[in-house]
Amino acid sequence: MLSIDYANCLAERVGVHGIDPDALAPGSEAVEGLAALTRKLRTTRGKGWERWRDLHIDPMRSEHLGAIKPLVERLRGRFDNMVVLGIGGSALGNIALQSALNPPTHNLLPADKRSGPRMFVVDNVDPMHFGAVLDYVQAVDPKLERTLFNVISKSGETAETAAQFMVIRDLLRKHGRKGGGEGGHVVAVTDPAKGTMRQICNAEGYPTLPVPDGVGGRFSVLSPVGLFSAAMCGIDIDGLLDGAASMDEPTSREDMTTNPAAMIAFLLVELAQRKGKVNHVMMPYSNHLYLLADWFRQLWAESLGKRQSLSGEEVFAGFTPIKALGTTDQHSQVQLYREGPNDKVFCLLEVESMPDADVTIPRGLGVEAIAYLEGKSMLGLLNAEKRATEYALLESQRPNFTIRFPKIDAFHVGQFIFLWEMVTAYAGLMLNIDAYDQPAVELGKQATFGLMGRAGYEKHLRAVEAALAPTARVIKS
Ligand code: PA5
Repeated sequence: MLSIDYANCLAERVGVHGIDPDALAPGSEAVEGLAALTRKLRTTRGKGWERWRDLHIDPMRSEHLGAIKPLVERLRGRFDNMVVLGIGGSALGNIALQSALNPPTHNLLPADKRSGPRMFVVDNVDPMHFGAVLDYVQAVDPKLERTLFNVISKSGETAETAAQFMVIRDLLRKHGRKGGGEGGHVVAVTDPAKGTMRQICNAEGYPTLPVPDGVGGRFSVLSPVGLFSAAMCGIDIDGLLDGAASMDEPTSREDMTTNPAAMIAFLLVELAQRKGKVNHVMMPYSNHLYLLADWFRQLWAESLGKRQSLSGEEVFAGFTPIKALGTTDQHSQVQLYREGPNDKVFCLLEVESMPDADVTIPRGLGVEAIAYLEGKSMLGLLNAEKRATEYALLESQRPNFTIRFPKIDAFHVGQFIFLWEMVTAYAGLMLNIDAYDQPAVELGKQATFGLMGRAGYEKHLRAVEAALAPTARVIKS
């Protein structure tokens, strides 16, 4: 199981910048308050937008695995390339799983050494980036015989994914390839019943997997949204769900001192509200875990960044999630983290063992200044540097906590995902905001529609043009 070491968030370690340990004593306001939230969360589980909490249990688990596995079985040997089209919650989980659980060289390996097709997730409409990926797959597969496109969009109306999809549909046609039916090259993950992508899938005959009802994008990685592409690339999706399931009981405990989700939510919300630590840095000491920090950024930012409370007051809630990589960012960010504003809490991720992967630093160079490294393990160095950073942060009274992975595998990554989703649910309740909507994202979408000429959005176009009318305040260099 993952463990959470939070001693460095307490006043005994970071003085006035930490939490008074009495706050965690039995019967304290915090302990009673968090127990009440746990009881509340029991009543909302599986309802409304909290269906994500049941993705790892039946009936959803069996339904999803029962649909994903035969499809993957049918498709895996047929394809050397898989291009995933999606954005936000329809991409970040896929990227994080692939990067956590497959080697960074996955796409470079020969077919017999890879655990599935090469995988590209194109989560933007930067034409240089998208074009380069399409050029590459056509260079290695000129007729697109062995390339699969996995389109992920709950709505089908997200401009970025829609544009990408229209490009690849056209490209497949030019190559004489079918999207749907026997021998098709598209798999869509979308709403099972409604929406624009559902209509397209019905019309084109694409095989589809569901984005389940009541599961929002940023909570969807353990649904077919994240599981299909992961399974295509050989990731143990049962292990991911087993890991999530194993985190279910600990994150349901009423006693917050034994409940990792309640504890993390309490630390982060309390340190923000009482001590001004409104920036939350996730710093994995592992390249494999680094992009989980990207997934976390969306979860934390979009769920908690809210103007209004549930009772309609203006609260401007939320915290700024920041990602950093240990040890790399010790040489780039830690100067700021230690001596800049004391407005952050650091979540350090540590990996205890890397079976079959650790590297022993050879003996024999004989240079005195670096002789101390001889014979040591590289993981030993990585974790010593993590411990050293922890110490250095403490010296500057910067609160931090560590989530420790026994090792990196699907089970522990599944635990981590479910843990943070539960932390977010607790934090949403503590802040008294709706953690499942994203009203502020809408205006930008409507403005884009207006700028791109979508009928019905003319007033948004006019509003953008008025707000951004040209001025002389431009410096031409
Ligand atoms: O978390 C969210 O809800 C968003 O990030 C969405 O996933 C993102 O906007 C993509 O939406 P859709 O899946 O409808 O294309």
